[in-house]
Amino acid sequence: MDCIRASCRSLECVVLVLLLFGRVVCVRSQWKWNTLLNNTGVVAMHMAVTHDNKVIIFDQTDAGPSHYRLRNCKTRWSGDSSCYAHSVEYSIMRNKVRALHLETDTWCSSGSFLSNGSLLQAGGNGLGSRRVRYYMPCANSRCDWLEFKNQLSVRRWYSSSLYLPQENSVIVVGGRSEFSYEFVPKSSGSSEPYELPFLHRTYERHSKGNNLYPFLHLSTDGHLFIFANRDSILFDYKQRKVVKTFPTIPGNGGRSYPSSGSSVILPLDHKDNFTKVEVMVCGGAARGSYRAAQRGIYLTALRSCGRMVITGNHQRWQMEEMPGPRVMGDMLTLPTGDILIINGAKRGCAGWESASHPAFKPYLYRPNRNASQRFEVLRSTKIARLYHSSAVLLPDGRILVAGGNPNNEYISYGVAHPTELRLQALVPDYMNTQFDHLRPENLTITYPQDPTGVANGNTFGVTFRLEARLMSNISVVAYAPPFTTHSLSMNQRMVRLECLSMDTDGVGNVVATVVVPPSIYVAPPGYYMLTVVNGGIPSRSVWFRIM
Ligand SMILES: *[C@@H]1O[C@H](CO)[C@@H](O)[C@H](O)[C@H]1NC(C)=O
Ligand SMILES: *[C@@H]1O[C@H](CO)[C@@H](O)[C@H](O)[C@H]1NC(C)=O
Ligand SMILES: *[C@@H]1O[C@H](CO)[C@@H](O)[C@H](O)[C@H]1NC(C)=O
Ligand SMILES: *[C@@H]1O[C@H](CO)[C@@H](O)[C@H](O)[C@H]1NC(C)=O
Ligand SMILES: *[C@@H]1O[C@H](CO)[C@@H](O)[C@H](O)[C@H]1NC(C)=O
Ligand SMILES: *[C@@H]1O[C@H](CO)[C@@H](O)[C@H](O)[C@H]1NC(C)=O
Repeated sequence: MDCIRASCRSLECVVLVLLLFGRVVCVRSQWKWNTLLNNTGVVAMHMAVTHDNKVIIFDQTDAGPSHYRLRNCKTRWSGDSSCYAHSVEYSIMRNKVRALHLETDTWCSSGSFLSNGSLLQAGGNGLGSRRVRYYMPCANSRCDWLEFKNQLSVRRWYSSSLYLPQENSVIVVGGRSEFSYEFVPKSSGSSEPYELPFLHRTYERHSKGNNLYPFLHLSTDGHLFIFANRDSILFDYKQRKVVKTFPTIPGNGGRSYPSSGSSVILPLDHKDNFTKVEVMVCGGAARGSYRAAQRGIYLTALRSCGRMVITGNHQRWQMEEMPGPRVMGDMLTLPTGDILIINGAKRGCAGWESASHPAFKPYLYRPNRNASQRFEVLRSTKIARLYHSSAVLLPDGRILVAGGNPNNEYISYGVAHPTELRLQALVPDYMNTQFDHLRPENLTITYPQDPTGVANGNTFGVTFRLEARLMSNISVVAYAPPFTTHSLSMNQRMVRLECLSMDTDGVGNVVATVVVPPSIYVAPPGYYMLTVVNGGIPSRSVWFRIM
């Protein structure tokens, strides 16, 4: 059974119909941009939201001084990079940053949350390239990075990572000059990396690889979807064998670094018992972009997106055109199940000084609409977010947008695209107070046995207040927050949960009984943002833990 009530009047949530001088006028309710901080101090090359409502932000450490000078620094030389923070923790509640401390270079690295909510960050450059670092969220604002040497068998620079629920470990795939994968933390014995010939096959020497930072998604059958350049496979990492080879995605160009497109796994739904798994890849760079950019010529980026159901027997990319070209975009799944495509450029590719024409307008993509009605162009920002920028969804529903630095150090003037340290929030239309009558408020979770979390297959209670009626399409969704960098949102996942019952007490209190998916490959253990969406209007999310 689903959370369906008596059928309700059809209600379009994003379009307001006004009766004006006897004529019906459609007004699009607006998305808004707010500048939260003028100086985060550190470029948000990498960003992730913890279950303590802090946002971990870090850059590389070898771009010279950042704009956050550490107190008590003894060095006289003003260019000493070690006198500056290269990572900060942003408090969503206080709208402030505090410095964190990195020992070695985290440039172009990867990250995944473990089931206990600690962030495992892997690799980087130079002395940092074989390190693993942990960040464990804490209530007292004293937590910091912990670094461990030689945790990776080989250098992992521009590699991707994904959390594996059965092993409670992380797979780290690829990287510059690395055609292999490995697992961290290491289980005893195994230390060698495993070859992945797929990475050789997709490597393009004259395009700086064009297969770095591969897209990784965990399918609900426990296999890995691995996409690099224009190709993809379904990989059984336990047997170390390729289960399926998917068709090449159409389009005259690549989709992986430095042709950086972006990718999401579309929301998984209990209605099909999570058997349909669909991935989407959007944008990228035109063929030859990397070499053209070396000569200062920026080719128009790819405009196409491909969608493919990776489960079942017949795989085919279904292609669509975005409203405009985009490279280095970020794709985020919103609580509504819609996909936000944000940041990046219209021309060029990833890398220093390799792109032009910032893509100032985000797109909203509604996967379940009819083909011609899926894309909407959102309000423009004035701030360019090119190479080394990122975006994350916050529990209150806003999107935090930060970073951008296509230069090899912090440069404020005299370049086409200065280092960008402003922090913005994109405020979706669903947060507008005009929808408050539909919005579930004061969400709380009641755990039946263990107050610290719920195991796969068990049920839990959600209570909330609702001023008006329940809409027929009320749903409860769980969102695994990603680690974002270089257009990837590693481990991002949205799961529509089954609801066994939903009862109202007549004075606006609603009690729902919700099921955690039985399979760890559908909903891997870890912290999720839980949201109730009523008629397209989401509540604020609350953190909940699948154990
Ligand atoms: C950022 O700086 C601008 C210009 O100086 C100022 O108007 C604005 O209030 C500042 N914003 C914040 C969030 O500090
Ligand atoms: C989380 O798990 C990791 C890996 O097992 C461990 O190193 C870390 O100490 C744990 N963190 C907490 C806060 O328990
Ligand atoms: C749904 O999938 C699970 C495995 O993930 C299976 O155990 C269960 O029987 C399936 N239920 C139905 C109704 O097919
Ligand atoms: C989508 O297309 C189908 C068939 O062409 C049509 O019946 C349906 O009304 C369309 N839906 C919307 C929302 O336009
Ligand atoms: C319910 O939430 C609103 C804001 O969403 C807050 O102002 C109010 O205090 C909350 N009420 C309770 C009982 O927590
Ligand atoms: C919710 O359902 C109503 C019909 O009951 C429909 O008109 C509306 O578009 C739906 N909203 C979303 C976001 O699906």
